[in-house]
Amino acid sequence: MNAKSDISPDSVSSTTLEEFRKVVRSRRSVRRFTDEPVPDEVLSDCLELAMLAPNSSNLQPWEFFVVRTPDLKAKLAEACLGQNAAKTAPVLVAVVARPDTWRQHSRMALEQWPEEQMPGIVKKYYSKIAPIHYNQGPFGVLGVAKKAAGLVVGLSRPVPRGPYSVNEMKVWATKSTALAAENLMLALRAHGYDSCPMEGFDECRVRRLLSVPRKGLVTMIVAIGKRSEKGVYNRQYRFDSRELVHYL
Ligand SMILES: Cc1cc2nc3c(=O)[nH]c(=O)nc-3n(C[C@H](O)[C@H](O)[C@H](O)COP(=O)(O)O)c2cc1C
Repeated sequence: MNAKSDISPDSVSSTTLEEFRKVVRSRRSVRRFTDEPVPDEVLSDCLELAMLAPNSSNLQPWEFFVVRTPDLKAKLAEACLGQNAAKTAPVLVAVVARPDTWRQHSRMALEQWPEEQMPGIVKKYYSKIAPIHYNQGPFGVLGVAKKAAGLVVGLSRPVPRGPYSVNEMKVWATKSTALAAENLMLALRAHGYDSCPMEGFDECRVRRLLSVPRKGLVTMIVAIGKRSEKGVYNRQYRFDSRELVHYL
């Protein structure tokens, strides 16, 4: 990863806010794309920005499968139930959550710490705490034991309430991966490109086509390209925030 994440917080100004607003407000789920290709540099920049998404323990439990070759793309579009977004997009990216890479990524975090001195707390976290926190043990027995211990200790003080099972690890990885998918889509918009996140696909076929690792979860397939004239099907709307936002 490069130094782009080292941008000073002070460099964010009110102009940036207006630009950000434009990016967010002009992002739409686009269902029909033009034939215009997406330059490699745009795609790789957007993927770098996607990977700057906040993520649990910085364990980066995601992978991106970029599909551009016409033959594979056509097969993948078919597996996306023949949706127009998938059929017309010049690029499809499968955004895959990896609930199973935490051990390897803990090691990588220890090896790739970006400063000369690794704080003791960081070293302890990745070498001692993470291997207990994320490990559910054979058949999930460690997870069950941790949950039971948490229930007892939790009576007298706040304790983490998970992840305590293989399924909770799936949720754990999917949360961070979905944030990366959103970063990807906003980055594309900032570059003047469009996207459509899709969960409407045949996961078995997608996994086979892309050789997704056994424990990987295809969180979304993002169709990418330039919106065509009739690419947005309806006006954007959201429910009244008074129903959904609670100021306590
Ligand atoms: C997880 C997820 C899955 C989605 N799956 C599909 C899909 O399979 N096909 C599709 O056309 N749109 C899909 N969408 C797009 C939504 O329909 C769209 O975001 C929503 O209608 C709001 O419209 P907007 O994105 O233009 O604001 C999906 C969005 C998300 C976040």
